[in-house]
Amino acid sequence: MQTIEKIDAFRVESAGMARPVGLVPTMGALHEGHMSLVRRARRENATSVVSIFVNPAQFGPGEDFAAYPRDVDADLGRLDEAGVDVVFAPSADEMYPYGFDTHVDVGRIAERLEGAARSGHFRGVATVVCKLLSIVRPDRAYFGSKDAQQGLVIQRLNADLDLGVEIVMCPTVREPDGLALSSRNAYLDAEERRAATVLYSTLSLARSIGGGPAEAVRSAMLDMLEAEPLASVEYVSIADADTLEELDAVKGTALVSLAVRIGSTRLIDNIVIE
Ligand code: PAJ
Repeated sequence: MQTIEKIDAFRVESAGMARPVGLVPTMGALHEGHMSLVRRARRENATSVVSIFVNPAQFGPGEDFAAYPRDVDADLGRLDEAGVDVVFAPSADEMYPYGFDTHVDVGRIAERLEGAARSGHFRGVATVVCKLLSIVRPDRAYFGSKDAQQGLVIQRLNADLDLGVEIVMCPTVREPDGLALSSRNAYLDAEERRAATVLYSTLSLARSIGGGPAEAVRSAMLDMLEAEPLASVEYVSIADADTLEELDAVKGTALVSLAVRIGSTRLIDNIVIE
């Protein structure tokens, strides 16, 4: 496995890479959710590339950029073991040198849910993903359904800017009790970890209610979340899975999503109900 930190060096290497090339963009602190994307990229492509970059541009003021878990040595060990060909791990100065002044703003799809809760977040995500796709020029790029809206934002920018990459969305990997794997789960203490199961229980409740007026489902979800003393709800949403417009009635393909703070840790999760 080769680790490359410089964009120029990556370009030199990439000229000789066997195609197709599959890219998995990450912010490191790798867990089984990331590794499921990595294994799939490896299986489906002649060359697998993983990027590790904790992107300052997608964290707002007061968010956890400084505290975000970083363990590059452990990450490189896991990726090597998984048979990854190339790791691209640039510094912040390499990605955003002095004078950097271009940003990618995706429209409506980026304004709802996480976009409304975290101002500037998707601008940071879209800009860095656009840069990673331009540097690596993969045939395919792999993303997790855990961040469903991020997937829609990236599909939109890939289509609108004619990047021509196949965007592959992969299922959410969960703990046995349903909690979606996330690098931020590392912030939870034992009591919070127990409380965090309320996210998936609430999504499962929405699934079991199934159809009918969306407001009734939202209110049942809120009741369940409010019964957990360590949880404070940021939003619950039942939206059209393509446009993210809030639904009046649960029908067609609906994305049920939520953002909840457990103590001071902000967690998100979602499921699709047909
Ligand atoms: P990060 O949170 O490190 O996640 C990297 C990829 O792993 C994302 O596509 C995410 O959806 C996926 N992922 C995370 N948890 C998962 C789980 N439990 N099951 C399946 N996939 C999971 O998302 C980002 O980084 C950044 O925003 C990035 C796209 C790298 C841009 O900076």
